[in-house]
Amino acid sequence: MQTIPFLDSETAFRIRDAFGAPCYVYDEATLRDTANQVLAFPNAYGLTARYAMKACPNANILRLFSSMGLKIDASSIHEANRAVAAGIPASDISLSTQEFPDDASLVALVEQGMSVNACSLYQLECYGKLFSGKNVGIRFNPGLGSGGTQRTNVGGPASSFGVWYKEADRVKEIAEKYGLNVFRIHTHIGSGSDPEVWLKAVSLSLDLVRQFESAGALNLGGGYKVGRMEDEATTDLQKIGESMKVEFEAFAAETGRQIRLEVEPGTYLVANTCAILATIQDMTSTGESGYDFIKLDSGMTENARPSMYGAQHPMVVFPQDGEARAKKEYIVTGHCCESGDILTPGPGDPESLSPRTLSEAKIGDLFGVGGAGAYCSSMSAKNYNSFPESPEIMIRLDGQLSVMRKRQSLEQITANEATIGF
Ligand SMILES: Cc1ncc(COP(=O)(O)O)c(C=O)c1O
Repeated sequence: MQTIPFLDSETAFRIRDAFGAPCYVYDEATLRDTANQVLAFPNAYGLTARYAMKACPNANILRLFSSMGLKIDASSIHEANRAVAAGIPASDISLSTQEFPDDASLVALVEQGMSVNACSLYQLECYGKLFSGKNVGIRFNPGLGSGGTQRTNVGGPASSFGVWYKEADRVKEIAEKYGLNVFRIHTHIGSGSDPEVWLKAVSLSLDLVRQFESAGALNLGGGYKVGRMEDEATTDLQKIGESMKVEFEAFAAETGRQIRLEVEPGTYLVANTCAILATIQDMTSTGESGYDFIKLDSGMTENARPSMYGAQHPMVVFPQDGEARAKKEYIVTGHCCESGDILTPGPGDPESLSPRTLSEAKIGDLFGVGGAGAYCSSMSAKNYNSFPESPEIMIRLDGQLSVMRKRQSLEQITANEATIGF
C-alpha cells in the first residue's frame, strides 16, 4: 500500500481549501526527526554535519536545520549568498562548486569564515591567487562512484566532479606555490549510493588524507540512499557510521592522526519530509490495449525526477467524497505539453510507462505524490508553459499550517522581461 505518513485525506483537503493546489506540503516533525538522525551519525573524533541545501533551499528549512546544529553545504556562490540572506553565518557554510565564482561576494564570505573545497586543479589555482596563505579543502574524485541512477553517480572515470585521485602531487605543488594549507579532504561519490560502495570510498578517501599531513578533517559528502517506495531500502546511518568509525580509528592507530568527520546529506534530510498535493484535473483512456490516464494540475513543474531519472514516488488518491474505492491501474501524467511529463515511468527508465495501481480516481479528487522533499522544489521545470511556481506549506508540530513560500504571480514570472520596442 502506498502512503504518505503525514498526509491523510482530511489534512489534504484542509490544505487545498486554504492554499489551493498544487502545492508542496512539508512536515516539521519529520524534518526534525531526520536532522536528529544525521546529528547522531557515529564518529570517532568529532562530527560536523552539514545540510546539502541544493536538495531544498527554502530559508525556513535552512533556519530550522541551523537551529538544530546542522551546518550548510553550498554548491554555488548563489546558494552561499542565499544561505547568508536566510541568516546562516558565513562561518557555518562550506562551498563545493562546479563553477568557481567570479564574484566579489566570494572574497567577502571567505573573509567572514566560509570554507571552500577546491573541486579542480584550476579552481585551486584561482583560490590560491585570491587567498594565498589560507586554509583550503580539496574535493577529490576517489576513482569510484555510485548513484541511485547513472545520472546521479559523480565518482569514477566518467565523472568530472573533483580532482582525479592520481593528481594529489599536482595539488601539493599548487598548494605550496600559494602557501595554502590543505585542511580538509572531501569526496562525494553520488546520490542514492550503494552503502557497500560508499564504505569502499571511505578507505580510498582515507588514503588521500594520508597523503596530506595537514588535513585534520575528511568530508564524505552525502548520497545516503533513501527509500521513497515501500520496496526501496533506506540507508542505516548508524550501521554504516559504525563501520566507518572503525576505519577512522584504525587510521589513527596507524598514523597518530585523529581525523574529524564531516557529512553533508541532502536527500536523507528532506526526501521523505514533503509531498506534492495536486488535483486530478482530467482523465482519459486509450482503450483496451492502451492505458487509463490520470492528468494532474502538477507534474514536471513541481517534480522533474520521474522524467529525468525514472524515479519512483509513492502516490495516493484522496477521493473527494471520502468513499472507499476499488483499485485500478493508471498512468499518471503532468500538465505540461510535453510527452515526457509522466509521473509513472518504469523504474530508472524515463522513456517507458509503468502503470501504477491506485484507488479508482475521479476528476476533482486530490492526489498526493510523496518523497518530494529533495530535488523537487529546487530542481523542477518551473515556469514551463508559464505555470506559476507552487507554494510551499509546512505542517507545524501543533498541526497548524504555515506558508513557507507563496504561489508565484504572472507579474513575478515576467518581472525581468524588458520591452524592446515591439
Ligand atoms: C558535494 C555534494 N555533497 C552533498 C550532496 C548531497 O547528496 P545527497 O542529496 O544525495 O545526499 C551532493 C549532491 O549532489 C554533492 O554534490
